[in-house]
Amino acid sequence: MRAQLRATPTSSMYLAAPPAGQILRHCFAFHLEIESRTHFVFINAMPILQTARLILRPFGENDVDLMAELMANPDFMRFSLGVYSREQTAAFVEKVIGWRRDGLPSQFALITRSNGTLAGYCGFFHQVVEEIEEIEIGYRLHPVYWNQGLATEAATAVRDHAFRDLKLPRAISLIHPDNIASRRVAEKIGMTHEKETVFLPTIVFAISRGGWSAKYGA
Ligand SMILES: CC(C)(COP(=O)(O)OP(=O)(O)OC[C@H]1O[C@@H](n2cnc3c(N)ncnc32)[C@H](O)[C@@H]1OP(=O)(O)O)[C@@H](O)C(=O)NCCC(=O)NCCS
Repeated sequence: MRAQLRATPTSSMYLAAPPAGQILRHCFAFHLEIESRTHFVFINAMPILQTARLILRPFGENDVDLMAELMANPDFMRFSLGVYSREQTAAFVEKVIGWRRDGLPSQFALITRSNGTLAGYCGFFHQVVEEIEEIEIGYRLHPVYWNQGLATEAATAVRDHAFRDLKLPRAISLIHPDNIASRRVAEKIGMTHEKETVFLPTIVFAISRGGWSAKYGA
């Protein structure tokens, strides 16, 4: 039997958007040709996103050491429950790899294009806020990279991926009221202050696909 696997010209085909609040599975579609008959094969995949200064790539097991350095840094972990041990970092990396393996939206490692450094993360978390499942866009950067627009650059790419590719109905960011830098990032990617909630002290910023489409086109 002769089998040939090749990506179709439109290989980034995603399943239809789920109802609001439900979790999305996304897949790449490949043509599998077996003895001249074409079959579709769906393979869970997460793309690599690129911005002017960053590459956003999926996490791998080899990232634990560098992430452990970042997550032991109190500035990197500002506005969280505190720094992580190596074991906690390994569990974090395993969790985001697991989401990707399950075809769920997940976190991207932020790699600087200038020197290939792992500078932080930006991507999706799965949260339950007031008993509703939400997809959060979350981000953290090593302090040497702060205030250069990098989090905004990464979060913009993640936002566009959420609505353009994954067809998510909505995305939120959960932000401590005193976290001015993070609030600014949320505002700069088009989110607006939606409400206050008890999730640690937290403001919910949000953007809908309709709002994204009206404001940013595409
Ligand atoms: C939040 C964080 C990711 C922002 O990263 P960043 O790359 O510095 O963000 P950007 O440069 O894209 O934008 C930061 C904005 O906040 C503003 N800002 C930062 N600190 C500020 C302060 N103390 N007061 C007022 N504005 C401030 C900057 O001026 C900029 O806004 P502007 O473009 O309108 O001038 C980074 O500070 C970080 O990793 N913090 C620790 C982790 C964290 O808080 N993560 C978010 C959890 S919700």
